[in-house]
Amino acid sequence: MTTTLAVRYTGARTLETGPSTTAPPGPGEVELAPAFVGVCGTDLHIFHGSMDARVTMPAVLGHEMSGRITRVGPGIVDWQPGDAVTVMPLRWDGDCPACTAGHRHICHRLNFIGIDSPGAMQQRWTVPAATLVRLPPTLALDSAALVEPTAVAVHDVGRAAVQPGERVVVIGGGPIGVLIALVARSRGAEVRLVELSDYRRSLAARMGLSTWNPATDDIAERASEWTQGAGAEVSFEVSGAAAGVTTAVDVLGVRGRLCLVAIHPQPREVNLHRFFWRELTLVGARLYDRTDFEQAVGLVADGTVPADLLITKVVPLAEAASAFDALETGGDVMKVLIECGNS
Ligand SMILES: NC(=O)c1ccc[n+]([C@@H]2O[C@H](COP(=O)([O-])OP(=O)(O)OC[C@H]3O[C@@H](n4cnc5c(N)ncnc54)[C@H](O)[C@@H]3O)[C@@H](O)[C@H]2O)c1
Ligand SMILES: [Zn+2]
Repeated sequence: MTTTLAVRYTGARTLETGPSTTAPPGPGEVELAPAFVGVCGTDLHIFHGSMDARVTMPAVLGHEMSGRITRVGPGIVDWQPGDAVTVMPLRWDGDCPACTAGHRHICHRLNFIGIDSPGAMQQRWTVPAATLVRLPPTLALDSAALVEPTAVAVHDVGRAAVQPGERVVVIGGGPIGVLIALVARSRGAEVRLVELSDYRRSLAARMGLSTWNPATDDIAERASEWTQGAGAEVSFEVSGAAAGVTTAVDVLGVRGRLCLVAIHPQPREVNLHRFFWRELTLVGARLYDRTDFEQAVGLVADGTVPADLLITKVVPLAEAASAFDALETGGDVMKVLIECGNS
């Protein structure tokens, strides 16, 4: 048994740092030393207590991570202690209708590791070897914590089937929206990012992205001018706001595709007449598969994703709560990482 530190969510707004004992990895498993763990919007929802019905407390959160293997279980031949890895945090049952149809990432009984089972905000973390994704030795481990959200963006751009030369409007310039904009641009699309926060717009501008401010601009009008009256080929709804849904419909041209990425827990009003009139398509996009993850490793490693600009703050494991506070109070923040003391 090894004793190390873990951060546990024990109820609304409470994170406790304490010792944790880890048994050696079993057959098919590996033990990791997480180096950096990103905090995402879902972690924040859990922290607020909004997902207490789903998480089993005390819960170790964290699913955006990078780290190194410390021990491998019996029968593992492809991996060795010291290997740099990230984890695709999904486990599926393999026999539900989604799995049978080849869409295991949206299994009817999906186990999202870090939400439904223990995550990476700890100094030792045992996971099935099948979840590992190899990192190139040249990739810094802090940057590599962005691979998971980048895989989301790769999946979304793929679902929307963005083509070179297409005009794309991304609504919502949080980490996911910015990553979608960057991935779409790397595929040859022309991109406009719509974001309310001055800080996030200026950060996107430093990445060379053109932005629009919905507080001061009529976005539908801007999109119409930009496309000489035609409307955009693709929009992404990544804001989670009702106004974002309206905008994502209004900016589209004939046969435009709206890719829905944000989580809208409640039903939203949608201008269906516009869908009929312009023959629009609505595409849902959830999570990623292994191909998306592997492409994301490449995009972070080759600098398409400028990790140094996206990472606003890194806090030590014992101060994990301050990472949640930083995101919660909003302000000038994009991505916050927790450093587990292993890097
Ligand atoms: N599909 C998936 O698998 C998947 C994966 C990860 C996250 N998500 C979801 O994607 C969404 C974005 O994630 P994030 O981490 O970037 O969240 P975020 O909350 O950091 O970003 C949302 C951004 O939208 C902006 N915004 C709000 N209203 C707006 C409006 N009317 N117009 C333009 N911008 C507006 C906000 O200022 C904010 O910067 C969330 O809903 C999240 O739950 C989905
Ligand atoms: Zn399944």
